[in-house]
Amino acid sequence: MRTFTDPSIFAHRTVLVRSDLNVPMDGTTITDRGRILASAATIRSLAEAGARVIVISHLGRPKGEPDPHFSLAPVAGELAEAIGRDVAFASDTVGEDAKAKVAELGDGDVLLLENLRFNPGETSKDESERREFAGQLAAFADDFVSDGFGVVHRKQASVYELAELLPHYAGSLVQAEVEVSDRLLNDPARPFTVVLGGSKVSDKLGVIDNLIARADNLLIGGGMVFTFLAALGHDIGSSLVEEEKIDDVKGYLERAEAGGARIMLPTDIVMAASFAPEAEHWVRPIDRLVDTPAGDSGLGLDIGPDTAAAYAKVIAESETVFWNGPMGVFEFPAFAEGTKTVAAALTASAPGAPADRLTVVGGGDSAAAVRALGFSDNEFGHISTGGGASLEYLEGKTLPGIDALA
Ligand code: 3PG
Repeated sequence: MRTFTDPSIFAHRTVLVRSDLNVPMDGTTITDRGRILASAATIRSLAEAGARVIVISHLGRPKGEPDPHFSLAPVAGELAEAIGRDVAFASDTVGEDAKAKVAELGDGDVLLLENLRFNPGETSKDESERREFAGQLAAFADDFVSDGFGVVHRKQASVYELAELLPHYAGSLVQAEVEVSDRLLNDPARPFTVVLGGSKVSDKLGVIDNLIARADNLLIGGGMVFTFLAALGHDIGSSLVEEEKIDDVKGYLERAEAGGARIMLPTDIVMAASFAPEAEHWVRPIDRLVDTPAGDSGLGLDIGPDTAAAYAKVIAESETVFWNGPMGVFEFPAFAEGTKTVAAALTASAPGAPADRLTVVGGGDSAAAVRALGFSDNEFGHISTGGGASLEYLEGKTLPGIDALA
């Protein structure tokens, strides 16, 4: 991967920086600024070194044409605050406004272009269309710095083809993310514990497959628990289950038995009468999940307190921890305790934790979850900006946006 250490090599040059500013929004309000803050260092250092910086990003999944719901305009102000400099905004990607604003750039100036996915060439399945759009972007600049780790798993014009057209480098965020992921994969201090949650086991099959032989412990939480419990023959009531994945899950349990990572499953679950914030709920051991006072079987919405305490102990005793996916429906306070307990065990102040351990929170959603629960970024060793990207990296896949930087 081509990198740089001295940003002054870009002085007086125009540099396209591909960031991932795909932040969660509520209308025009940004609800989690994590990706903007994480993208700031590269942009700031290039501008301070006298480069003319054009920042490019996507936001959400518009359909290849302008859509005000997905405008990056609200991000420009937040980015300016994060880098401590003005950020101009172009209301298109390669149109008249972008051309005029690029022409006005002076050394040290920063310009953000509108959402790349407003142009069909960005995500086109047709390579020639992607190349054409990448060519229009490349015409603006002398160099390309790829710093949007969250999107390096996508073969898209601004991620892949652009790197073929300009001298290219990995930015400091991509460098840091790759370094941490490589440590997890190839050189983890032991014990190495992987905590996986989220609703669907199908999203995590690749990562379980690749890490089962590398990790010491795999702790399972979230909705995906119930596919495991169903595989073991438990009655899970109306809890979420992926019937078609039960055989995969059985295979992982067998591999664990045969000498892979120890797979830990919950011993108790918070069962609820319905999927609602105020739903009546009960803690139940896994062999009596459906023994509920509701008169119906109920559904599981969080790991139980015994499970959370057992997971916290394993996490606190580990030298390396990777966590992706909430343990329960943390958006409802009544079902957030499991996620909170696990998050607290990953923090620097967790009782009994080794001082120099590496804790990694992977994934945009998991990162947003810990912030929403009141934890701050600096309590964790590393908060990844990549959701799908960090999972695919840990699955051992070749990622187009990293490949392109060779
Ligand atoms: C993400 O949020 O995972 C990245 O920004 C990539 O977005 P995408 O899944 O819409 O390609």
